[in-house]
Amino acid sequence: MLENIIDIVRRAGELVRSAHNVTAATHEKNGPADLVTEYDLAVQRFLRQELLALLPEADFFGEEGQHDALTSPWTFIVDPIDGTTNFVRGFAYTNISVALAKDGQVEYAVVYAPLAGDLYAARRGGGATLNGRAIHVSGRDPGHSLVVCGSTIYDRSYTERHFAIMRYLYDRGLDYRRFGAAALDLCQVAAGRAEVFFECRLSPWDFAAGSLLVQEAGGCVTTLEGTTIDPLRPGSVFAANALCGGLTAELPRG
Ligand code: IPD
Ligand code: CA
Ligand code: CA
Ligand code: CA
Repeated sequence: MLENIIDIVRRAGELVRSAHNVTAATHEKNGPADLVTEYDLAVQRFLRQELLALLPEADFFGEEGQHDALTSPWTFIVDPIDGTTNFVRGFAYTNISVALAKDGQVEYAVVYAPLAGDLYAARRGGGATLNGRAIHVSGRDPGHSLVVCGSTIYDRSYTERHFAIMRYLYDRGLDYRRFGAAALDLCQVAAGRAEVFFECRLSPWDFAAGSLLVQEAGGCVTTLEGTTIDPLRPGSVFAANALCGGLTAELPRG
């Protein structure tokens, strides 16, 4: 199953790599921080067709509409282009994210950054890989750690909490990177380049695949309150290596 999903996601990546005149193909969904391009729609159409041909009994749950009622035990959770703003502006930090969940638990995950040529994959209980090689979270402690985070700018009700958490982690010696694609940000923790990822509100397609990658790389993923994430519902996400995982106990509350 994982190899078949990888093959489909790689082929979807060709649609991203062949993109041209992206600005002209761009529309605002809910304001300037929420964009959709013709390529988001084309990649999602392709993934829906190919993934459901692979596992016809599964439901499809993707960012750009086409949601099935979730009645099957199996669900494909899909972000056709994560990091659309980067894609529109020509930053290569963008990815296709596909998770396959069974009974609400992610079993397979693929995050592919086609412009960088990086493919992250994981199967529950089978470890996590980058381009076929095993990856692991780092062993750095908070005082030597980097945080990648998303700012949830489209919903200002999270602003105070977001900056309170940034300030809290900053005061404990952690430094920051803000790259602009949540699924790939989670992969930075899985690959041991960063130690913490957080965002106050994400949708299932932003974090479903990346969360399994972090877990299979030896890290932990919870909500900002330290409770279990639900890959079929929106919510906050906190991912970390083992030494930073305990920080959720002290984070500023919403
Ligand atoms: C967004 C990106 C961004 C995160 C937003 C997401 P999109 O996804 O992952 O980094 O901060 O919360 O919505 O819209 O580019 O698929
Ligand atoms: Ca979007
Ligand atoms: Ca996304
Ligand atoms: Ca998207």
